[in-house]
Amino acid sequence: MTDILGNMRRTNHCNELALKDEGSEVTLMGWVQYRRDHGGVIFIDLRDREGLTQVVINPEISPEAHRKGHDIRSEFVLGVKGKVEKRLEGMTNPNLKTGEIEVIVTELKILNKAETPPFLIEDKIDVSENLRLKYRHIDLRRPRLQNNLILRHKASSLIRNYLNNNRFLEIETPVLTRSTPEGARDYLVPSRVNPGNFYALPQSPQLFKQLLMISGFDRYYQIVRCFRDEDLRADRQPEFTQIDMEMSFLGEEEIINITEGMMADLFGELLNIELELPFKQILYDDALDRYGLDKPDIRFGLELKDISDIVEDSGFKVFSSVVKKGGIVKALNAKGCIDMSRKEIDDLTDFVAVYKARGLAWIKVKEDGWQSPIVKFFTDQEKEKLSRRIEMEPGDLVFFVADQPKVTNEALGHLRNHIGKKRGLIDKKKFSFIWVTHFPLLEYDETEKRYHALHHPFTAPLEEDYDLLENNPLEVKSRAYDLVLNGSEIGGGSIRIHRKDLQERVFEALGMDKKTYQEKFGFLLSALASGAPPHGGIALGFDRLVMILCRQASIRDVIAFPKTQKAACLLTEAPSGTSKAQLDELCLKVKQIDKNL
Ligand code: AMO
Ligand code: AMP
Repeated sequence: MTDILGNMRRTNHCNELALKDEGSEVTLMGWVQYRRDHGGVIFIDLRDREGLTQVVINPEISPEAHRKGHDIRSEFVLGVKGKVEKRLEGMTNPNLKTGEIEVIVTELKILNKAETPPFLIEDKIDVSENLRLKYRHIDLRRPRLQNNLILRHKASSLIRNYLNNNRFLEIETPVLTRSTPEGARDYLVPSRVNPGNFYALPQSPQLFKQLLMISGFDRYYQIVRCFRDEDLRADRQPEFTQIDMEMSFLGEEEIINITEGMMADLFGELLNIELELPFKQILYDDALDRYGLDKPDIRFGLELKDISDIVEDSGFKVFSSVVKKGGIVKALNAKGCIDMSRKEIDDLTDFVAVYKARGLAWIKVKEDGWQSPIVKFFTDQEKEKLSRRIEMEPGDLVFFVADQPKVTNEALGHLRNHIGKKRGLIDKKKFSFIWVTHFPLLEYDETEKRYHALHHPFTAPLEEDYDLLENNPLEVKSRAYDLVLNGSEIGGGSIRIHRKDLQERVFEALGMDKKTYQEKFGFLLSALASGAPPHGGIALGFDRLVMILCRQASIRDVIAFPKTQKAACLLTEAPSGTSKAQLDELCLKVKQIDKNL
């Protein structure tokens, strides 16, 4: 049998040859990174996934290789046979691992030609992300993305080892399934054999992993794809990967310990960073109070201060009227930011408007007093109290938002992160983990006029709050916990409801009647009644975790084939239309679509 490789077989990778190999015969295979023709002698940087080696085609040594060498262009695929030689004095490249040697070619095969690539295969390129995504197979040749995916692979193998060593079983769960409510829209798949019926792609394997506990498997994991039709951002994809875990017969503490052990392994092995265990923990209410967000970035200070009590009766009607209507007024002391210009402050006012704040009041603290459009409204006594509460010192710039608690917290929480980044207050080398615990079980959706589960409807309430379920549901705290790393939510989980009667009470608190929850979750209720062990678990966002491990700003840079903001794959041009025949088979009809939408 002949093939294009002939008798050529790779002996080495392009990063491993060194002076110790001088004189040996080697065969390398890879892509042409650069080709330089130095009046007769042709130099090629040959690249494979491991690195680069310089190969030299000398007409006097191999006239045939040299003849072929003239046609070679970037990204051609080559096989080269040759001898390792020490580079001449002054020709070494200290930036390259193989920079002290070169391979003098004796035989060369062009294994394939390549069209001129749409961009250079190097890290510093200035092209749009859309172009990169259209040619993702080429984009992925660039060292940064190669390294990201290699690290991603290492992370998933470490995680598997860690969990296997801790008695976890990897069990697969269906992808064509029923809707699992995790708060996003479902992706639906029509069923041909059940016309008019649809599967939902899983938003997570939540109910299956609970069923596995009920079946007695006691420790489950899966590195699993989840699908959520939601608005995309830098850290969100419509399909993403979770490290999904569930355990029986234990409580929050053990689940937290197991997760922390996994993080310590990952950061130790991959980044050589020893994490400080145990991680910090904060109550949800305290996180909101101090940082405004349920995913606090604790790498820097600038904690928020509630000043509602001080301004409640003040002459500044904007503040006092908000407090009288059940809102809150909070302050963010941007230490040492007095140098911010009016234009910068105006920009920050636009910034908080995104979170629905109706204004951003401010005070500049000077040596000789306050400079502020609102200072005139406060009495000396109020000023004194504000100054003490907010710890105001000359050089500070203090921001205020007055609104309903959700708006005030979100606006100032995000402003805090924004100022932290903008003013360089964040130590980029730090990895700060924190658990947020005791989330409320439910929240009230003003637009839909109904309650939602903050995590999912299977999360257990705190035992001491059971009695509030019927009459004061918003006061019920849950046994849910989130893991936050550098201000990013990288995981979430909870102890689950394992008793049928309690699950029914929670469904009812969510506004579902018996008929609805029987129809949707009858299988779960029946399983809970069949001898369900106490259980709980967690899911970590694997893509987000890898993004932070790789110090990347976009989740798309750690996913081989990610989707755009519009949930499209530019490489394969998915999603796409389909034929009438296929639609007919599925009993589907597509409404006239306005292309401008
Ligand atoms: P949750 O919905 O909090 O919990 O998801 C777990 C983690 O998954 C990550 N994540 C995402 N990553 C990328 N793109 C997305 N669109 C996206 N959505 C979520 C986040 C998040 O913390 N079944 C429960 C877990 C449990 O209770 O055990 C669940 O799915 O990092
Ligand atoms: P006004 O009296 O509306 O001109 O507002 C005076 C200052 O208060 C301006 O700096 C506004 O940005 C600010 N402001 C107005 N509404 C709010 C609010 N809800 N929260 C915080 N500051 C506000």
